[in-house]
Amino acid sequence: MASSRSISIIFFIYTIILSSSSINCKGNNNNLVTNQTALFVFGDSLFDAGNNNYIDTTFRSNFWPYGQTTFKFPTGRISDGRLIPDFIAENAWLPLIPPNLQPSNSNNQFTYGVSFASAGAGSLVETFPGTVINLGTQLNSFMNVERMLRSELGNAEVKKIFSRAVYLFHIGGNDLFYPFSANSSLFQSNSIEKFVDFVIGNTTSVIKQVYKMGGRKFGFLNVGAYDCAPGASILDRTNIGSCFKPVTELVDLHNKKFADALSRLQRELSGFRYALHDYHTSLLERINNPSIYGFKEGKKGCCGSGPLRGINTCGNRMGQSFELCENVTDYLFFDSTHLTEKAHRQIAELIWNGPPNVTGPYNLKALFEFN
Ligand SMILES: *[C@@H]1O[C@H](CO)[C@@H](O)[C@H](O)[C@H]1NC(C)=O
Ligand SMILES: *[C@@H]1O[C@H](CO)[C@@H](O)[C@H](O)[C@H]1NC(C)=O
Ligand SMILES: *[C@@H]1O[C@H](CO)[C@@H](O)[C@H](O)[C@H]1NC(C)=O
Ligand SMILES: *[C@@H]1O[C@H](CO)[C@@H](O)[C@H](O)[C@H]1NC(C)=O
Ligand SMILES: *[C@@H]1O[C@H](CO)[C@@H](O)[C@H](O)[C@H]1NC(C)=O
Repeated sequence: MASSRSISIIFFIYTIILSSSSINCKGNNNNLVTNQTALFVFGDSLFDAGNNNYIDTTFRSNFWPYGQTTFKFPTGRISDGRLIPDFIAENAWLPLIPPNLQPSNSNNQFTYGVSFASAGAGSLVETFPGTVINLGTQLNSFMNVERMLRSELGNAEVKKIFSRAVYLFHIGGNDLFYPFSANSSLFQSNSIEKFVDFVIGNTTSVIKQVYKMGGRKFGFLNVGAYDCAPGASILDRTNIGSCFKPVTELVDLHNKKFADALSRLQRELSGFRYALHDYHTSLLERINNPSIYGFKEGKKGCCGSGPLRGINTCGNRMGQSFELCENVTDYLFFDSTHLTEKAHRQIAELIWNGPPNVTGPYNLKALFEFN
């Protein structure tokens, strides 16, 4: 207890230093608060900047060598360094977006945005129940932030912040994987089609709620090719290194239905604008052709053990030993399922600037520029 408190205090001080230095290096931003377009982040480990440090869970990576690049400190981000939202924030001239659960002494630390993302989270309450902050609970936290901001800044200001803000989501992958790691009666008693509809139905209800609260600009990543990550590609022992087929089918179905659901939302909700990045394609491209993108390894993790370092022992998780690569910039994957900072930077660039066949109908830069 005492030691976890001191860790969070150190973490807190550290991020203050980091965010103020990031403001300083951008210069001239003393009145960021009043005019900046905020960034609110929802999702899973791809985006979790440390929320899971504050809940009772084993889905946590706040220990070395996580954070070895850039932060030189294990912030809870499941990577060697920065995540996609960190690069998006940088492009948008925002400071690092703080995790919702991070303690703070500043009243309006959330006016640039907040991250609600939680490693392991899905849209379904049935996905890793009790050990993650699922998407519905993330929405509830956003409603709490709304109440807090209203009492500090007034309704009109909050309305302005929310309608200008960008809401970034990556969710669904854990829902599709969960039935292969535990018994899921929801999965077992429904068709694949129906199960995927539940995932997307729960995601779209949250999107609609955020829209109701004033959100107009949304960024989405479809579910990445995690069926081909080191962790998944060792599941079939007879075919090590190949994508894990049972999940491939679910991911493909999900991504097709998700794109359809978003274009339906755009027709239904007036003023709803979105960017959908085809993360599945951009990740798979890098797994299959690493050298084109400056990586030496697309299929093997930098940190972990066993074949392809696909066993998730990175950082001595559960007391098991692990290997750590010498040069992380050679690798697409940092651990069995999570990317390196270098990979995150590339994907963030595609989300920010991508042409419409990569990120569309808008890219994130365009969404930030709308008033
Ligand atoms: C902030 O917005 C106001 C109008 O809402 C505008 O007059 C002012 O120039 C803006 N300031 C900055 C720093 O962009
Ligand atoms: C699923 O349930 C069966 C029977 O209850 C049990 O034998 C099996 O270990 C369970 N599988 C997982 C992954 O929990
Ligand atoms: C959300 O998921 C639950 C299962 O957790 C399902 O019963 C419900 O129908 C889903 N909601 C939508 C709108 O699809
Ligand atoms: C790591 O790899 C990158 C790219 O392959 C190279 O530029 C860099 O010099 C290497 N760093 C070290 C310490 O070997
Ligand atoms: C997007 O379109 C460009 C040409 O406009 C093409 O070179 C590129 O391969 C396309 N990317 C994808 C992912 O389809």
